Amino acid sequence: MDGSLALVPTMGALHEGHIALVAEARKRADKVAASIFVNPAQFGPNEDFSRYPRQEEQDLAMLDEAGCDLVWMPSVHDIYPDGFATKVRVSGVSDRWEGEARPGHFEGVATVVAKLLLAVRPDVAVFGEKDFQQLAVIRRMVADLAIPVGIVGVPTVREPDGLARSSRNAYLTAEQRARAVTLPNALKAARDTISGNGSVGSALAQAKQALVNAGFLKIDYVALVDAATLDPLDTPQGEMRLIAAATIGSTRLIDNVAV
Ligand code: PAJ
Repeated sequence: MDGSLALVPTMGALHEGHIALVAEARKRADKVAASIFVNPAQFGPNEDFSRYPRQEEQDLAMLDEAGCDLVWMPSVHDIYPDGFATKVRVSGVSDRWEGEARPGHFEGVATVVAKLLLAVRPDVAVFGEKDFQQLAVIRRMVADLAIPVGIVGVPTVREPDGLARSSRNAYLTAEQRARAVTLPNALKAARDTISGNGSVGSALAQAKQALVNAGFLKIDYVALVDAATLDPLDTPQGEMRLIAAATIGSTRLIDNVAV
């Protein structure tokens, strides 16, 4: 596409996952822009907004290296000037899972992504499957508001042992980091059970037990869901995803796999 532009929205603290989005963006458009904005509106009052890792210089060097043409780093005031009063709420697909565990989170995400898309007006915008529900919320919003942009999803980039790369992995101690790999392993085991026509209920129960055994303290959910609506499924049907969120130490991790 001649003169086309791709946008990669991020909150910084970049890693190989974000760089994979830039690489995909380069295949989809002539020029690639990234945004770095730690969006206060998507963090709850007891979440990690103030301690979210900030490493602008390193981020800019990584984006440059990855072939990103332009980086936008708006201030909070640029995005939310005095008097800002609009919220984008995508009902249905936002309601469960992350939406339930983190009230207001997806309103914050949908509002800022709408604003970024309308400010930059890219031809395509690239997001990771790592945040699977977020991707589904954004697809729904873009369709409903007829925002003229193509949404591209990129498979999750993982550490060699299988843990999904995440800026929040930096919070893990070495000992927690070693146990965290149980999250993707439990999802893969449940996927194999379900793909082999095993019971969905016992596959999910086994995954939860594996997380408990590995010392995850709080399991928010392990669920088989419809890939577009995120509605829970008791039996396999259509396009599906296994999703999970659980806390190790004080760090909340999410992951998902295709079924
Ligand atoms: P952030 O967590 O910085 O993630 C930016 C993008 O990188 C998201 O699309 C996310 O899904 C993707 N990503 C993160 N880890 C990944 C991995 N291991 N593999 C592939 N992609 C990965 O998600 C956000 O920021 C924000 O909610 C945002 C969309 C920028 C709105 O504020």
